[in-house]
Amino acid sequence: MRAYIGGMPVTAPPDEDLDVLRRQDPEIADVLLGEVRRQSDSLQLIAAENFASPAVLAALGSPLANKYAEGYPGARHHGGCEYADAAERIAVERATALFGADHANVQAHSGSSAVLAAYAALLRPGDTVLAMGLEHGGHLTHGSPANFSGRWFDFVPYGVDAETGLVDYEQVAALARHHRPKAIVCGSISYPRHLDYRIFREIADEVGAYLIADAAHPIGLVAGGAAPSPVPYADVVCATTHKVLRGPRGGMVLCGAELAGRIDRAVFPFTQGGAQMHTIAAKAVAFGEASTPAYATYAHQVVEHARVLAAALAAEGFALTTGGTDTHLITADPAPLGVDGRTARARLAAAGMVLDTCALPYGEGRGIRLGTAAVTTQGMGAPEMARIAALFTAALRDDPAETARVRAEVRALTGRFPPFGR
Ligand SMILES: Cc1ncc(COP(=O)(O)O)c(C=O)c1O
Repeated sequence: MRAYIGGMPVTAPPDEDLDVLRRQDPEIADVLLGEVRRQSDSLQLIAAENFASPAVLAALGSPLANKYAEGYPGARHHGGCEYADAAERIAVERATALFGADHANVQAHSGSSAVLAAYAALLRPGDTVLAMGLEHGGHLTHGSPANFSGRWFDFVPYGVDAETGLVDYEQVAALARHHRPKAIVCGSISYPRHLDYRIFREIADEVGAYLIADAAHPIGLVAGGAAPSPVPYADVVCATTHKVLRGPRGGMVLCGAELAGRIDRAVFPFTQGGAQMHTIAAKAVAFGEASTPAYATYAHQVVEHARVLAAALAAEGFALTTGGTDTHLITADPAPLGVDGRTARARLAAAGMVLDTCALPYGEGRGIRLGTAAVTTQGMGAPEMARIAALFTAALRDDPAETARVRAEVRALTGRFPPFGR
């Protein structure tokens, strides 16, 4: 039986796709089948993950993977690009229509590559950039010393309020006035609320800074009308295509017409080589799916499910940052249940529930970060979210019999909502 959400089949029957590989390379086929089993019989609660559709996977596995296509449609460095050009033109048209942007670059290989391109287009090494501090939810590309961003630019971190967990916009404004950054970055890996892009725009305008929205997480909600769009406010919007958006792993950059040339040159030839045409075709498919009413329903369900799950976790005793969520994403401190984030992640994984740890801006140790994009794609609903919260509490008890009981219930639950066709 194949699971459907909003009239859309969830993902490809992997057995058929793997037949050819099984015959030629059983060693790797076993690895892939093991991953299919893992994704099928455990709960995928990592906030950045999802299940791509059969059509997205078909484009990803297509012969466009063989094609070199440096450059842009109509201006390639290679011959034989007529179909590559068509795929990229369709992807760009669909992305600009979906997000109401003047221009889309769909070649960025990843979310990090998209941010790198935005910086390359707008900044010079040594420039000052204001971004959310990493311990408050910023991404590595927002100034980590382990990342190019922290090495090449002078990042000034802003944070969230200690009481509310919400972005401290007064602090952002004060830091901007003091440091006069060349760019302000708004975006996070773990902020569960909507950002106020209008306030960020006002602050950026006041100090003459570019506004870069790193919407890697919320972009899928934006596509479905379930979150506010940064496009009308930011000079450049960076995004991923593989989270709630349910496309292939990859990046995207949206901008106004006046920055289009700079953004394109910053992607190729400045920071990347040949475009990955199979991924670009798969992005086009995902943008097509995301423009349907079924996807809008899905995006709203993702948020509704996150709200239900957040409320149920709070009732179980988890300390939710910001007290809840507006998005697909929940962050929580499990300390009231007697464990830290790392222990919680390990115990939950042993019971078949896969999620991440995250920094806690003001807490001791680490928290947990989870999301509802994948379980919603599988077709789970509000009752399952409430049940998952109860399973969390049971799994966190240091009791092997309880862990085994929860593991069995997770298998039964995922068996009712299989992510792959049978
Ligand atoms: C806010 C933000 N920016 C950038 C990225 C980087 O994306 P990628 O892992 O595709 O490089 C992520 C990934 O989670 C993210 O959440």
